[in-house]
Amino acid sequence: EGFLPFEHEPYFNFGLDAVAGRQRDAYRMVREKYLGRAFPMYLGGKAVEGTATFEVHNPADTREVVWRFPKATPEQLEEAIGGAKAAFEEWRFSDPMQRATIFKRAADLLRARRLEFNAVMGLENGKNWAEADGEIAECVDHFEVFAREALKWAQGKPVYPMPDEHVTMVYEPIGVVAVISPWNFPAAIPLGMALGAIAAGNTVVWKPASETPLSSLLLVELLYEAGLPRNVIQFVTGTDDVLGDPLVDHRDIRMIAFTGSKEIGCRIMERAAKVQPGQKWLKRVMAEMGGKDPTVVCADADLDDAARGIVQAAFGYAGQKCSACSRVIAEASVYDELLDRVVTLARELKVGSPEENAPLGPVIHEGSAARIMDYVEKGKGTARLVLGGERAGSGEREGGYIAPTIFADVDPRDPLFQEEIFGPVLSFTKARDWRHAIDLANDSEYGLTAAFYSRDPQKINEARRLIHAGNLYVNRKCTGALSGTHAFGGYGMSGTNAKVGGPDYLFWFLQTKTVAQKY
Ligand code: NAD
Ligand code: ALA
Repeated sequence: EGFLPFEHEPYFNFGLDAVAGRQRDAYRMVREKYLGRAFPMYLGGKAVEGTATFEVHNPADTREVVWRFPKATPEQLEEAIGGAKAAFEEWRFSDPMQRATIFKRAADLLRARRLEFNAVMGLENGKNWAEADGEIAECVDHFEVFAREALKWAQGKPVYPMPDEHVTMVYEPIGVVAVISPWNFPAAIPLGMALGAIAAGNTVVWKPASETPLSSLLLVELLYEAGLPRNVIQFVTGTDDVLGDPLVDHRDIRMIAFTGSKEIGCRIMERAAKVQPGQKWLKRVMAEMGGKDPTVVCADADLDDAARGIVQAAFGYAGQKCSACSRVIAEASVYDELLDRVVTLARELKVGSPEENAPLGPVIHEGSAARIMDYVEKGKGTARLVLGGERAGSGEREGGYIAPTIFADVDPRDPLFQEEIFGPVLSFTKARDWRHAIDLANDSEYGLTAAFYSRDPQKINEARRLIHAGNLYVNRKCTGALSGTHAFGGYGMSGTNAKVGGPDYLFWFLQTKTVAQKY
């Protein structure tokens, strides 16, 4: 397509003093430039301040208000949807090369500001340097991938020919897409959904999670700077009573691209099924939801490697990833030894502030910490606590700090095994043999990611065939999908299996037109 070959954006090496110093400088700069500010929404291409605002808190010390955003009114939501609807009439006919060029420019603009974006994210959702860096690098990858995908889908696809008709099959955009996203990936997740929509020629109403709006706003402004016509993305912030059901229900919304909890995803699916007066289509819903992701360890596996992968996937970003490993299922003969190695590594994780790059930071807020601790307290009565099980102190700071927690001998019917806890809590369950371990891994309503550790090709083949997960990783951890390569999305109640970053993703945002012409 005239682009250089695709390469994933490399990560920063924060082990180097100079690089660590630059990340600290970026935090200082972000604090000076953004702290205490009130940020706007973007409606009809104009920055709009709200009369009423809400506060965004630093999870590392929730007493600190980092910035404020407007609470959109119902009239402003109307304006946003109306603006996106009007913009669709032009953007639908825009040249895919124009779209691709904007994304390429945005990739370059972001490359120059990655450390700043990392610091903004750290201050609003508590990711440490490497976790934030992984996500911002993924945003660069998304820009590069979607630039190429925009051109690829513009080609249409060949059909079997007829002697007396000229037949083409082309893909056309569908309309206004509502993009609704969670706080745990406040940049890469809404960006992936929004780029899918606009690469295909649709327009977007972007509604970020209210815990993390600045990580989203900066990306929207970056796209404007790269040349995106401002009306193509309307950016609205506020509360769920105004921007939840009313956005989903609106008759001018053609599609909802949602990533978040199972509860809200199911609610959206149900509400979107109702045809509103004046609505001229059946709404499309992409709903990517939770996970209860297993790591299976066979007796022949490299136990050190498995233990490292488990600890990274279970406790990275305090386990607050849909992809996090929350269940380890190990064959009886290696169960105790693996448990020992995992506990030894997890015990070393220092709990502290993400701004100072502690390996284990706080959970998003007190409500979440209380919910997680409820699982932990109940778990003490049903399983064997082998590590943690308590809140962790972090000096003078007030935040949802929880010690890395591991339960052993967890029964498959226990909520610890079945429910998404979304915190630094890991359960261990013993399997009779590797085949039983696969059955236990599949004993879940979810099916997002899974890891399988073995050196035996026959077992690996069986795992590839049988494990019920949208993303299966063999001999590596179950987090860290890369855009363009590890198309991401789950099975079962993990959602609609949209596979963001994959070769079929844009099809979600398109409709197909066949034109048969006689001369
Ligand atoms: P959430 O479902 O509470 O919120 C997600 C978004 O939905 C937010 O922007 C919220 O404001 C909005 N929302 C709330 N009520 C709504 C309504 N009635 N209609 C429309 N939108 C509404 O999820 P969360 O707590 O922000 O995120 C954590 C969850 O997200 C976890 O379950 C996690 O597994 C999941 N997640 C899934 C993926 C994936 O790719 N499958 C990725 C990241 C997170
Ligand atoms: N895409 C994220 C991961 O793979 C959620 O960890």
